[in-house]
Amino acid sequence: MKLGTPLSPSALRVMLLGAGELGKEVVIALQRLGVEVIAVDRYANAPGHQVAHRAHVIPMTDGTALRALVEAERPHLIVPEIEAIATDMLAEIEAAGLAEVIPTARTTQLTMNREGIRRLAAEELGLPTSPYCFASSLEELQAAIDGGIGYPCIVKPVMSSSGKGQSTLRGPDDVRKAWDYAAAGGRVNQGRVIVEGFVDFEFEITLLTVRACDASGAVQTYFCEPIGHLQVSGDYVESWQPQAMRPAALKRAQEIAAAVTGNLGGRGVFGVELFVRGDEVWFSEVSPRPHDTGLVTLCTQRLSEFELHARAILGLPVDVALREPGASAVIYGGMDETGIAFEGVADALTVPRSDLRLFGKPESFLKRRMGVAVANGTSVDEARDRARLAASKVRPVKD
Ligand SMILES: Nc1ncnc2c1ncn2[C@@H]1O[C@H](COP(=O)(O)OP(=O)(O)OP(=O)(O)O)[C@@H](O)[C@H]1O
Ligand SMILES: [Mg+2]
Repeated sequence: MKLGTPLSPSALRVMLLGAGELGKEVVIALQRLGVEVIAVDRYANAPGHQVAHRAHVIPMTDGTALRALVEAERPHLIVPEIEAIATDMLAEIEAAGLAEVIPTARTTQLTMNREGIRRLAAEELGLPTSPYCFASSLEELQAAIDGGIGYPCIVKPVMSSSGKGQSTLRGPDDVRKAWDYAAAGGRVNQGRVIVEGFVDFEFEITLLTVRACDASGAVQTYFCEPIGHLQVSGDYVESWQPQAMRPAALKRAQEIAAAVTGNLGGRGVFGVELFVRGDEVWFSEVSPRPHDTGLVTLCTQRLSEFELHARAILGLPVDVALREPGASAVIYGGMDETGIAFEGVADALTVPRSDLRLFGKPESFLKRRMGVAVANGTSVDEARDRARLAASKVRPVKD
């Protein structure tokens, strides 16, 4: 892939579909390599819009609108940042040779629905996962639980992310509520859920796995150090790197990640989510793009996951080396309001070895991620304390 001059005929053009905080960092990484970047989201002034050459607002689930924009902008690469996209149209665009979809159109189709990726991982690749069933009605859900999944279990809409519509069921009294909650929380109200047996893991990790070209141009698989994280209600609140792991568990995690990403193919960063207990490892899910828990790599690796993604998709070599231990802690909006401001930023940055990202989202919600604090330390524990402290000092306020 030839890198040219942005805004000239030689430009290499990349279109981001989704321009949130993760997309924003990918845009910045691409900008640094002189790539012409077009950022697309469903609302105006999204974080990535603010740093791209051009910004567009379209409903990305609308295939016709998506195709029209691709034909108008003629990007060389299309880089999805979220799952809620008209992925069938991405497949048509790829098949027509209009643009290359990262990592592949098939991958975006498989991972936008929990059913696609779970059946691939468990049934085709034979990887260990939680026990699971799919259900399309309350009756089917109850039958699946009674038929072997049991309690506790977790119900999730097949199309959702960040824990939306997800609940843990302790007994028969929780089933109806979980069904109703899933139906309301799904991205597309499909009325289909996955019910998973509860995995009693010791800790969970994101294994950032990079498919990138080596010196000879062949695609190789590289693994970053494992990222540990803490989830509350299915949403990440803290992450750290490296997560200490027994060698056998790490090896198993890498085997699982290699199997999944090898099947999906293409180039780029994948966030492989795994549960770990002792030497046992379960596959949970995979994002074919940088992962939110990987925000920690902004301070831990020589190349952040965003820079790795930029390099990998451009066909450039990568370096996944860890520089030093670090952690990230999420800053929530804490209120429903547009155009908020942040107090305590200077104070937060007095925390040793800390840094901040404020995403610039135009609208705050109580539980919307508006920023993140990252920090390094001589140990992961020290880094976690610092990241949490820095995040706690930043106070979103009404302007
Ligand atoms: N079968 C399970 N057993 C135990 N815990 C689980 C199970 N499934 C999910 N969890 C917990 O819930 C979290 C969110 O689940 P999952 O990743 O499937 O949802 P999600 O909506 O895709 O979240 P995100 O988009 O933030 O990754 C997991 O990181 C884990 O902490
Ligand atoms: Mg997840």
